Amino acid sequence: MPSDARPIGVFDSGIGGLTVLKELALQFPQENFLYLGDTARLPYGSKSPGTIRRYSEQNIQFLEKQNVKAIVIACNSASTQVPESEFDGLPIYNVITPGSQKAVETSMAGRIGVLGTRATINSQAYTKKILQFNPKAQVFDQACPLFVPLAEEGWDSDPVTNLIVFRYLNPLLQNHIDTLILGCTHYPILKNSIARVTGSSIELVDSGEAIAQWIEKDFSTGRLHRREDKTPRRIDVTTTDSSAHFSEMAIRILKPVKADEFRTVDI
Ligand code: DGL
Repeated sequence: MPSDARPIGVFDSGIGGLTVLKELALQFPQENFLYLGDTARLPYGSKSPGTIRRYSEQNIQFLEKQNVKAIVIACNSASTQVPESEFDGLPIYNVITPGSQKAVETSMAGRIGVLGTRATINSQAYTKKILQFNPKAQVFDQACPLFVPLAEEGWDSDPVTNLIVFRYLNPLLQNHIDTLILGCTHYPILKNSIARVTGSSIELVDSGEAIAQWIEKDFSTGRLHRREDKTPRRIDVTTTDSSAHFSEMAIRILKPVKADEFRTVDI
């Protein structure tokens, strides 16, 4: 198979998509990546579907111009507005389908919880997709708008975070879910606090892990070609606004993966 050294483009509204980039970078150690965090227009999760769609299309056009070989929409709020597709032969992946499929495969009782931003929960994208995979599933969703600022603040495992996690998750626990989709890029940052509340009987589904499995499948079938070079790969992280806090948090979230460059771009 021919080698394809073009980077895989990944975009998010900001910092959270780095949780997805990290999974992809660990799973595909030979691949180059170009990350775009639309920090100038964050948050997406409180915006209307039309605005989220417009921003997402602009991000896709930007990445396409950078000659990427595929685009991963890491942002769940954006993923609810852009279906998986192929744009001039360029595969575009969103996180809703892989996350829903993984949850259905994981859930023994078919009682699935979904956490997300208001935009993601209002779209019902996860519920619809889960029911496509398993029409008998029961889905219990919960918007958690306070999680994003807590994650951005780096307050994972903080007593305040633990309390807020309990407040949001309690209704889902009352409904005896056995699987919980972390339907927002920021939520894996709070995984310790979330797992403390859910306990070991509820499986957590992380979109980063789920999308990595999908991309592996496309490498195996030849829809995507791997980079075969033995030279070190590159990871470039770009944002639409500059902030020292972003780079500090980025280094922390990506660990042990290291970015080669952080730069600001105008899309
Ligand atoms: N990245 C967004 C998501 O996954 C969360 C942050 C935001 O609201 O922009 O839904």
